[in-house]
Amino acid sequence: MQGKEPDMPSISELELPHLAMDAPRFAENAAAHFAVARAEHSWLAKCVFGYVVHDYDAIKELMWMDDKMHIAQDRVIDVMGARGTPWGRFQEENIFSLSGAAHKRIRDLVAPAFTPRQANLHRGLMRKVIAELLDEWAPKRAFDFEEFAASFPIAVMCSLIGAPLSAIPQIKSSLEAIGLSHSMDRSLLPWMQEAMATLDAFIDGLIAERRAGQRPTEEPDLLDALIAAHDHDGLTRRELVDLLITLMAGGYDTSKNLLTLIMHKMLDRPEDYARCAADLDYCRKVVEEMMRYQAISTAMRETHEDIVYRDVYIPSGTMLFFALPVATRDPRVVPDPDIFDPERVQVKKHIGFGRGNHLCIGQYIARAQIEEGLHLIAQRITSPRSPGPNGWRPFFGASGISGLPIEFEPA
Ligand code: HEM
Repeated sequence: MQGKEPDMPSISELELPHLAMDAPRFAENAAAHFAVARAEHSWLAKCVFGYVVHDYDAIKELMWMDDKMHIAQDRVIDVMGARGTPWGRFQEENIFSLSGAAHKRIRDLVAPAFTPRQANLHRGLMRKVIAELLDEWAPKRAFDFEEFAASFPIAVMCSLIGAPLSAIPQIKSSLEAIGLSHSMDRSLLPWMQEAMATLDAFIDGLIAERRAGQRPTEEPDLLDALIAAHDHDGLTRRELVDLLITLMAGGYDTSKNLLTLIMHKMLDRPEDYARCAADLDYCRKVVEEMMRYQAISTAMRETHEDIVYRDVYIPSGTMLFFALPVATRDPRVVPDPDIFDPERVQVKKHIGFGRGNHLCIGQYIARAQIEEGLHLIAQRITSPRSPGPNGWRPFFGASGISGLPIEFEPA
């Protein structure tokens, strides 16, 4: 615990700009709002729920202080009045919410299934699934790209755990519900509880089928790896099911929103889009540049110890939001940050997958599926046009575009 020096300002005493991060269209021009805030204070701002850390180094340094802060799940469960319910239990116990030794135990057990090598092994399967989806969607000549992109991470995740694609409609609604877990909207609780029951039964069924020897391919997949962690390394049945639900939910909104933002950007950049069709490595560059330019997720923590950082006293119980999506839109960090340039060398690498103990475990799967997806989409959906986004998602949680109608020529 760090003490407050007599003349040291407490975070609540600072003159800080207010960022209306809860405003409906904030995400559309988030980088511009942050540029204004940065001129008033170099690393901190206020928002409706607490304080926002927006400086690249400050985010990295503070997010590494995992022993002094935790994800504020308790507050969410209490606001929702859901303590002791299945959804409340899941919120308390899943890998996102755990900290310290309990978190490390689960993370260490499953990390071997999420290395870059493991993610790359899944690329063939990813390509097959994406090609099947495109066979279904491309003949339409017009659709909401966000809706298409929503099917895509679920389809990939289903294929990685041996679930049939016919299960998508049922799981999609449940993942939508779990994705709204931080909405603080109590009226959604019955839907979320129902989603927990549906996903529990769905995953239970998958595990039972696998144990009974039913499998879609002979190749070992992610479900095999996680069942092995259950059988040999002490992962309990409840932890195994929770983990599979978390992986599906954690990779859903995020991947969908990133792919939709990329398509939005490509609409004005036909040459880049044509290169994506021809060159998988260029897709990798586009994905990394989009993560730098406009990543998806903010992170939220509550301090449980007093912290002194850059001569500011941050008492225990302070809510901190980390503005990962805009940290690399800062001219102090990246030259010409508002120019989207897939060929740029990221000397200071983007931090869109977070920092510290909770660093996104699915980041290599996310990269692989979006790179492979973009490559095939650019081949099959040519000359895309759009009147523009229908709207923007909230900046808190997983931000991005809400509805992107496109027309195109199928190839
Ligand atoms: C573009 C896509 C993605 C983005 C932008 C993203 C972003 C993030 C971020 C920022 C965190 C850290 C949150 C925090 O510290 O509070 C995180 C954690 C996590 N992500 Fe992702 N993610 C993506 C895709 C995925 C995928 C595909 C999966 C599953 C296969 C996944 C599973 C997880 C899990 C389980 C955690 C929690 C890890 C832990 O607590 O140890 N994510 N993600």
